[in-house]
Amino acid sequence: MIKNHVMNTYGRADIIFEKGIGTKLYDTEGKEYLDFVSGIAVNCLGHSHPVIVNAIKAQSEKLMHVSNYYWNEYNIKLSDILTKNSDHESVFFTNSGAEALEGAMKLCRKYGKTQSEDKDVILYLSGSFHGRTMGAISITGQPAYQKPFMPIIPNTVMVEFNSVEDLKSKFTEKVCGIILEPVQGEGGLSACSMEFLQTAKDLCEKNDALLVFDEVQCGIGRLGTLFAYEKFGIIPDVICIAKALGGGVPIGAFIANEKTSNVLVPGDHGTTYGGNPFVCSVACAVLDELINNGVIKGVDAKSEYMKSKLLELKEKYPSKISEIKGMGLLIGFKLEGSPKEFMTKALEKGLLVIYANNNVVRLLPPLNVTEAEIDAAIELLDKVFAEF
Ligand SMILES: Cc1ncc(COP(=O)(O)O)c(C=O)c1O
Repeated sequence: MIKNHVMNTYGRADIIFEKGIGTKLYDTEGKEYLDFVSGIAVNCLGHSHPVIVNAIKAQSEKLMHVSNYYWNEYNIKLSDILTKNSDHESVFFTNSGAEALEGAMKLCRKYGKTQSEDKDVILYLSGSFHGRTMGAISITGQPAYQKPFMPIIPNTVMVEFNSVEDLKSKFTEKVCGIILEPVQGEGGLSACSMEFLQTAKDLCEKNDALLVFDEVQCGIGRLGTLFAYEKFGIIPDVICIAKALGGGVPIGAFIANEKTSNVLVPGDHGTTYGGNPFVCSVACAVLDELINNGVIKGVDAKSEYMKSKLLELKEKYPSKISEIKGMGLLIGFKLEGSPKEFMTKALEKGLLVIYANNNVVRLLPPLNVTEAEIDAAIELLDKVFAEF
């Protein structure tokens, strides 16, 4: 175990990484790894991408931070890019995914309370993951995340994943919003059914409640469209994003549609660092590369290629892989065996993968991954399976 004074909240592998280029990572011993985790869907352009490096260099020499009591050119520019490329109107910048969810929860509550004092129930789904703050765990449908920290925020009610019946029965007039991941990441790469999403949308309209998509993991290109909702054709009132938005610098956001864009007013919400010129200039450069340089356009074909290669592995190891799961480059397989053990063995062979719930191994390569790199990852997975 590496000697340290970092609080022991992660089951960390005993590796210190010191350098990364593209899909490659190097540890302090000089060993090379193929990174199919991307910092859990963060490094969408891989490591040390020149677009990100140059944006960091340029902006750090110019202006790192000013208070949100003043404007800076890059939070204006980034909000323009995000709203021009969505069906939405205004953006609140945060520092992380959980913080984006916190803001969305506050927005739902305030929206409900403007109609009636007791319209404050927030629905969420079983198997979901929305982050680790008190608000976020209150809408995370996994008992292990909530139990040690009880009581959670009241009037948060769990709905069975993809159960239209349960959704209808719990969607009373007291509901102010429903928060869901269109494709669950940590939950095991399960997608909401179109019927479930359409019902949620209809019930929100009928009850004047808000539909919130948590696209922190599945958004920003990972499904082959900038926003995940575009893949489903169902427009949420509010979108939460983070992770890939900054390509490695900490930034998140919640984005409100016209109906909800003016719910929060001065004094309702804030954060010191949110939307500072440094992170926003990097996010602008990341989005420019993703949108205008063909990166997102290439995701569908890469996803198909990777799926076909994973299916070949499934045919070769039918007793070890039971299902190929996920969409876009949020993809993986259901393993017969311990995904944690699999992850450790993959690491020994020089491949980073990550597990999710329900025995799923997740593969989250950067969005600019090449077919040759996918082939290399499949070859390493094959070697792991041969010994697993
Ligand atoms: C879907 C989803 N929402 C929210 C979060 C929380 O994001 P953060 O860790 O940046 O707070 C995560 C993190 O994995 C996530 O996957």
